[in-house]
Amino acid sequence: MTIKSRICEVFGIKYPIFLAGMGGAANPKLAAAVSNAGGLGVLGAAACTPNQMRRWIQETRELTDKPFGVDTLLPMSVRGGGNLKQNQGKNPADLVEDYQEMAKEFMNEHGLKMIEADRKPTEIESVGLFTKEFFEEQMEVVIEEKVPVYAAGLGNPAPWMERLKANNTKTMTVVGAVRHTVKVSSAGVDAIVAQGHDAGGHNSPIGTMALIPQVVDAANGIPVLGAGGISDGRGIAAALMLGAEGVWIGSAFLASEEAGIYKHQKQAIVDATEEGTVISRSITGKPARIIRSAWTDFWERSIHDPLPMPFQSAVAGSVLASADADERQDINPGFAGQGIGMIKSVRPAEEIMSDLVEGMEKTLLESKKWL
Ligand SMILES: Cc1cc2nc3c(=O)[nH]c(=O)nc-3n(C[C@H](O)[C@H](O)[C@H](O)COP(=O)(O)O)c2cc1C
Repeated sequence: MTIKSRICEVFGIKYPIFLAGMGGAANPKLAAAVSNAGGLGVLGAAACTPNQMRRWIQETRELTDKPFGVDTLLPMSVRGGGNLKQNQGKNPADLVEDYQEMAKEFMNEHGLKMIEADRKPTEIESVGLFTKEFFEEQMEVVIEEKVPVYAAGLGNPAPWMERLKANNTKTMTVVGAVRHTVKVSSAGVDAIVAQGHDAGGHNSPIGTMALIPQVVDAANGIPVLGAGGISDGRGIAAALMLGAEGVWIGSAFLASEEAGIYKHQKQAIVDATEEGTVISRSITGKPARIIRSAWTDFWERSIHDPLPMPFQSAVAGSVLASADADERQDINPGFAGQGIGMIKSVRPAEEIMSDLVEGMEKTLLESKKWL
């Protein structure tokens, strides 16, 4: 069945199904597998150093001759220096050491060893993860590498649009509210992702089902992809019914053989039900949907709020690294959306894609039964 969607025409793909840019998880193998299966694989390059990102782009080009994308974050709060403002009388940068002490106590309580001291300084540490300079250096690579598609997972790519368009890079941006839609539509993006509250990772307070049609109405004719909690073909068909012309799917691809997450995290997804996630600022400092863990519970109980981006990453970093080294699903099960209750096993991405396509086609055909 041919799906008549502008998304397929604009992005040169067979099915209007995008692998969402998921930091680290959406790696070259996974992105290439989705592109090769007729969707569009988007690299989750948000935490990649500029050199890592260049390597990932080259690796993806070796694995597929189909279009693919790169996703990074461009949060205004960081790019505008907003997070360096005084926070309850204190600069968050001055609180990092105290917070790292709290993290150490948490680690002791949970039998985690500090492994950060053994690590050699990385490129990330020299640039400063999630700082303004970090995001800007990433954009230089996106432009130099002339990638087929660029997705801004947070924020507005307007300052880079002229150079991206000159390279014929298709651009898209993720929004969680109508007011963001209005801003990014005037930047001239090729598609807008309406990502609702059900989604894994940084997300919106508005539920997916209510958000999609409202973003479609505000998008000024720009095609919209629906996102958040879509984990099977029925969800894709529903997003199309709500006015989206494609979908941006994350969690359903996390339990794939290719995904760049740990085995214990893939198992956490298979084990979880639809009730298994919470919204927490405990990882990046921004509200994100994540599988509930001892680390999210710790911040839920704490009298202190997590620090804003980019400072909370410096607090959570050693806890998560240590949890991963010990395969601790109870401490770092990872980000995931509310659709994970539908995920029953870890499979090759190609198989996940073909189930999504088959389920979408079946649901669309069956929808005639209502008339
Ligand atoms: C593990 C994980 C990591 C994510 N990392 C990013 C990211 O780096 N950049 C981004 O734009 N969105 C990120 N997201 C959000 C996804 O791009 C996407 O919007 C979301 O997964 C859609 O909801 P779903 O997981 O319910 O399909 C992440 C989501 C997950 C589950």
